[in-house]
Amino acid sequence: MSEETLLTRYASSEEERLEQEVRPRVLNEFVGQESIRQQLTIAMQAARARGDAVDHILLYGPPGLGKTTLAQIVAAEMGGGLRTTSGPAIDHQGMLGSLLTGLEPRDVLFIDEVHRLSRPIEEALYPAMEDFAFDWVAGKGVGAQAMRLSLNHFTLVAATTRAGALGNALRDRFGLTFRVDFYSPEDLCKIIYRSASILGVPIQEDAAPLLAARSRGTPRIANRLLRRARDFAQVQSASTISADIVEECLAVLGIDKHGLDGSDRRVLQLLCQTFAGKPTGLGTMAASLQEETETLEDVIEPYLLRLGLIARTPRGRVPTAAAFELLGLPTSRAVFPEELVLPLESTPTSDR
Ligand SMILES: Nc1ncnc2c1ncn2[C@@H]1O[C@H](COP(=O)(O)OP(=O)(O)O)[C@@H](O)[C@H]1O
Ligand SMILES: [Mg+2]
Repeated sequence: MSEETLLTRYASSEEERLEQEVRPRVLNEFVGQESIRQQLTIAMQAARARGDAVDHILLYGPPGLGKTTLAQIVAAEMGGGLRTTSGPAIDHQGMLGSLLTGLEPRDVLFIDEVHRLSRPIEEALYPAMEDFAFDWVAGKGVGAQAMRLSLNHFTLVAATTRAGALGNALRDRFGLTFRVDFYSPEDLCKIIYRSASILGVPIQEDAAPLLAARSRGTPRIANRLLRRARDFAQVQSASTISADIVEECLAVLGIDKHGLDGSDRRVLQLLCQTFAGKPTGLGTMAASLQEETETLEDVIEPYLLRLGLIARTPRGRVPTAAAFELLGLPTSRAVFPEELVLPLESTPTSDR
C-alpha cells in the first residue's frame, strides 16, 4: 500500500487511540444514520423492557462509517460488557467456546470482519445464535463425548465490509441487519464540530464544510483530516482552524475538491488511459496498481462508485464519462455505453 493510502485510510494504533477519544459513547451522540438509530432505539427499548438481550445485529458497509462505534454503543446502552474479536482471530473451536461461555447475560460479542470466519467456526456459531447453546466434543477417539453447554443470552454484533461474502445461513440468523451508508456533508460537519470541541481546537464556520466535503462521506477520514488541520494551525501558531489553513493542508495531502487522493486518481488514470475505458477485472487493476484486491474493493472502489466515476459491469470495472472529464480527457473516449452499466443495487458482488 502506498504511503498516502496509509495516511488517509487505515488507522494505526496511535490513530486508534485518538479515534477512541472522539468516539460517540451513546446513541444520542451518534450523528446521522437516522434509520439505524430509530430501529436500534426501538429494539433496545423493547429488549430492556423484556429484561433480555437485543437480537443479533449485522452491520455492513465501507470502513470508517461507525460499525465498531455502534457495537460499543449497543453494549453501553444495554448495560452489558463488550467482548471484541474478529473473524480471522477465532482460529479454533475451543477459542470460540471460551469466548461464548464467558459471556454474561446481555453482553455484546463483537466480531469484526465476520466474513473471514472459518467454515467450522461459523457453523459452531449457529446454535449459539439460535439456541444459546455451544456444542462441544470432549475427549478424542472412542471415549469422545458430545456435550451441549448452555450460554447466557448475549447479543452478537457482527461487522463486515462485504455483506456479499456472507452465506445466507449466517446472514439469516441476524434479527437486525443494517447497511451503514456514507454520510452527508451536513452530518460530517456536525461530527467535525463535535470532535473539534473534544480535541479543544476551535474551527471556523467556513472551514468545517471544506473539510466535510473532502472526507469521502466518512467520519473516520473527517476526524483524521481535522487532526491534520489542527497540526497545521499549531505550527502556524493560529488559534483557530481557518478555511485557508484547511485549503493549505488538503493541498499538501494531495486531496482534491471531491475528496479524491492520489490512489483514487491512479485508479481512474488506469481505467481511462492505460485500459482506454474498456472493462477491467479487479485482479488486473490490483496487479497494475500494486494495491491489494481487498483495499481496492472495500476502500477505494465504493466511493468512486458512489461518485459515479466508475461502474461495475459483468465484464469488469469501467470508467464513466465523468471520470474522463475529471481527468481532463475528452469524454468521447468513454467507450462503454451508459445503458450497459449496471445500477449499483443489482451489482454482482464477486465479479473478480
Ligand atoms: N455516526 C457517527 N457520529 C460521530 N462519529 C462517528 C460516527 N461514525 C463514526 N464516527 C467516528 O469515526 C471513527 C471510525 O468509526 P468506526 O466505528 O471505527 O468505523 P468502522 O468500524 O465502520 O470502520 C470513530 O472513531 C468515530 O469517532
Ligand atoms: Mg471497525
